[in-house]
This record gives sequence, C-alpha cells and structure tokens, in this order.
Amino acid sequence: MIVLGIESSCDETGLALVDTETGLLSHALYSQIAMHQEYGGVVPELASRDHIRRALPLLEQVLAEANLKKEAIDAIAYTQGPGLAGALLVGASVACGLGLALNLPMLPIHHLEGHLLSPLLASRPPQFPFISLLVSGGHTQLMRVDGIGQYTLLGETLDDAAGEAFDKSAKLLGLTYPGGPAISRLAEQGDPAAYQLPRPMLHSKDFNFSFSGLKTAVLTVVKNHPGVLTEQDKANVARGFVDALVDVLVAKCCTALRQTKLNRLVIAGGVGANNQLRAGLNAAAAKKRFEVYYPELEFCTDNGAMIAFAGAMRLKANPAEARYDYGFTVRPKWPLAELS
Ligand code: KG4
Ligand code: ZN
Repeated sequence: MIVLGIESSCDETGLALVDTETGLLSHALYSQIAMHQEYGGVVPELASRDHIRRALPLLEQVLAEANLKKEAIDAIAYTQGPGLAGALLVGASVACGLGLALNLPMLPIHHLEGHLLSPLLASRPPQFPFISLLVSGGHTQLMRVDGIGQYTLLGETLDDAAGEAFDKSAKLLGLTYPGGPAISRLAEQGDPAAYQLPRPMLHSKDFNFSFSGLKTAVLTVVKNHPGVLTEQDKANVARGFVDALVDVLVAKCCTALRQTKLNRLVIAGGVGANNQLRAGLNAAAAKKRFEVYYPELEFCTDNGAMIAFAGAMRLKANPAEARYDYGFTVRPKWPLAELS
C-alpha cells in the first residue's frame, strides 16, 4: 500500500511516498531556513504561511518522481504534533482535505515517532529492541524502544534541548541560524584544551539532561573575554561547547545500554547529523562493543519521509488504525509516552 506523508511541524515542509512493502518511493523538502535567518530564529506566522505555499507543489513533485497519480495513494499520514500550532494546522488541513477528496484513510503521526523510526529507513536498519537517543531542536530524550508504539521514556532534558543549546550558543558567538551546523564546523578548528566547559548532570544517577547551564557558560566566556573575540577564540569556545555536550550525551547513552542490557543504540533528530557526536558515539561503540545506528544525513532533520514511513509502519501493524476521519485537531504539546 502506498502512504503519502506530510510534515509541517516547524520550518520545513516535507512530503514523501512510502510503499509498505518496498519502502521509500520519493520525497521532497522545502526548507524555510533562509526566510527565518534574518530574524535569528523561526517566526511561527511566517512558517505557517509558507507551508501553505509549498505543500501542493511538493505533492506534485513526489507524485511525478514516483511516477504515480494521486489516485494511487492508499492512505495519508500527517504530523499531528508536537510543533508550532499554526504550522501543524496547515499540514493537517492539507492532508485531511486531500483525504476527503480522494476518500482515503488518515494516519495522524507523532513527529518524534517519525524521528525515532527514521533510522529504519537506512540501508542498515536496526532491529528492535534498542535504546534511542532523540536529539532535536525541541527535544532531548533517551528511550527504550521495543517495537512500534512501544516507547519507554528513560530520561529527558529538564530545560534546553541539545539542538536549542547549539542554536543559542551559536547566536552568542554571532553565528547564523540554525546554529548546529555552524558551531560544529567552527569547532573543528578549535583547540580542545582552551576551554573546559561544565558537563551538566554527567554524574546524576538518572537519564535526565540539562543544557541551559552549558549555554550560560558560553555566555560567561563571551562576556568575560577581554576585547573582541577573534575567529580562533570563537572556534575554541565552539569546541569547548561541543566537547562538553557530546561527553554528556555519550555517557548517558552508555549507561542506558548497560542498565537495560541492550546493545543497540539508535540516534535520531537534527543533532544526530553532528560529526563530533557521531565520532564520540562511534568511539564508545567500538570500546564498549555496542552497535550504533544513524538516520541518513538528509533524514536527521525534519522531513516527510519519516512521517510517511511511520504511517506505513503503523498501517502495516494495524490497518484499522487508519481512519476515514477528516475532522482534525493538532497537538502542539504531545508527550511521546502517550502513544501506543
Ligand atoms: O530534528 P530537527 O530538524 O527539528 C526539530 O524537530 O527540532 O532539529 C533541528 C535542530 C536544530 O537545533 C539544529 O541546530 C540542529 O538540529 N542541527 C545540528 C546539526 N544539524 C542540525 N546540531 C549540531 N550539528 C549539526 N550538524
Ligand atoms: Zn523534528
């Protein structure tokens, strides 16, 4: 069966077609980053309006790429939450309008479930059960995943998400939005011995995280620095920041694997694209003999493929879950643990 997926929770409009038997057929993405860059972050109203402009042309694009007509679609999956309310409403209304017109069953999808399952789209997909580290702009969570809809939260951030810490620290260093890739590139030139920044909650006996203090440490370094920060100073701070964040993430993943006696770690979300995090996790995996899996780089950040794929997995597991129900509501705040 062919599932259309529509993602519109933040600043990316993503559409994709997934075949429940053969996998991803086509996907297309429009990123609004350039539009939001001049404001230093996402402007929700502008995001909603732009999703309206992009959704249908992207639909035509994925259909053409898969060489299919819209009548070939068997079900429509869309991001119901969490995310920006207005942005979610655009995706949900386009999805449900199409569903009504084509008489198709609907699958409202949790955005984080999309991220969580995105590594299963890779050429070397992990088997259940596994530990998942979900590191995005809005969330940082460690989970035990036993199957579709079987998610046990082990711990999460108490304040800023990892991606948020990247973005805010980058802003303090005068880098453009989104700060993750920018700070990561800069850190490559940095001296690891220049700044030892705090590793928040590294030794806490739980699986929670806290990154706002790390961002404040960056602010303190910037403020106390005599004179203007040179490019090398900025690179050194970036390096200190990334090393601290990676240390904490890697340590908590290792403890989660040890305590649950699992040996598969699966990374998801935008920060999963980070080179330093991947290097840290790969080194730990080689040393402690566990397997680590990542999504393809293009599926780390928001995209339609992960939503179509999550829809396809759910449809396969329980066809009755797809409902001919076009009265939609969005869930801007929606804990993943509520899913079943
Ligand atoms: O998963 P995502 O696209 O959106 C949310 O659902 O939040 O993640 C976006 C986040 C941003 O904070 C961005 O700065 C971060 O992922 N990010 C990165 C990298 N690429 C994206 N952070 C560090 N290194 C990267 N290469
Ligand atoms: Zn996301």
